[in-house]
Amino acid sequence: DWTAENIIEDAIAQVRQQVGDDEVVLGLSGGVDSSVVAALLARAIGDQLTCVFVDNGLLRLDERDEVEKAFGKESGIGNALPLKIKTVDATQEFYAKLAGLEDPEDKRKAIGNTFIDVFEREAKALPAVKWLAQGTIYPDVIESAASKHGNAHVIKSHHNVGGLPERMALGLVEPLRELFKDEVRQIGLVLGLPKSLVFRHPFPGPGLGVRILGEVKPQYADVLRRADAIFIEELREASLYDAVSQAFAVYLPVKSVGVVGDARRYEHVIALRAVETIDFMTARSARLPYDFIERVANRIINEIAEISRVVYDVSSKPPATIEWE
Ligand code: XMP
Repeated sequence: DWTAENIIEDAIAQVRQQVGDDEVVLGLSGGVDSSVVAALLARAIGDQLTCVFVDNGLLRLDERDEVEKAFGKESGIGNALPLKIKTVDATQEFYAKLAGLEDPEDKRKAIGNTFIDVFEREAKALPAVKWLAQGTIYPDVIESAASKHGNAHVIKSHHNVGGLPERMALGLVEPLRELFKDEVRQIGLVLGLPKSLVFRHPFPGPGLGVRILGEVKPQYADVLRRADAIFIEELREASLYDAVSQAFAVYLPVKSVGVVGDARRYEHVIALRAVETIDFMTARSARLPYDFIERVANRIINEIAEISRVVYDVSSKPPATIEWE
């Protein structure tokens, strides 16, 4: 019968049988799925696993540190088995590819392709890797089968490392392929991942790249990171984080006038987005208390000189999507 322990034992036995003594590489993103695969493989094959964490310059505030901490020596996982993590700072490369791009799909493609380039380069530099591990879960399997048969309506291209295993002649290790999200979370908890990571809101592969409208610039990302961190911190503080399915800030590169003290301010705008949804296919905006939204808005404007105004997005999906791009 289904217990997280049984699933873990089975998966470990299967992975060991599949890869033997071979070396395995995993793209660790900090999301739930790849983190659970990392924790599972750490237990199954220990130092045969190398995780590659690509910093694309589009991560949330402190995200890189959090990932390193979750798997570091002091963590439950690091204690049991030291995990090899190779962190790659590819910020410059991503921003160079994004320069001048304004169309959301062009941006997604640039970010996806750059990720593949960087990841492939790093994986090739590792000695004798034979396998690529991925955090594919059951709903991903269904979705990609549907799109192969042409009946999925593709509104936004979601990037993964498609094509990479064949090109690099790597076998695929996908220990979560038969599991639903809630099962993956249960396993993550049993394996010792922190709750904050296991129950984290989803974050798109292109990261802040699709939350800065139009051209992505490093200084915009820096401002957005700070605004987003204030919003998330306040949600946690007010015990609202787990009540919403996803929440984030969006950077609007339009200018608006404000007044701070005696001075006129003419700066950019932040939109706050929070949604409630079961399946992310449809969603409605979260009815956060007005006092709460006002507090977050005031903090953002007072603490971030580059922002003059904050708005709250009340659009439903459909017709709007959850992300702004
Ligand atoms: P939308 O904006 O399509 O988002 O309503 C639905 C869910 O998908 C996430 N999302 C993405 N995830 N790559 C991803 O990995 C993407 O390009 C992407 N675009 C949207 C979004 O955050 C939401 O959870």
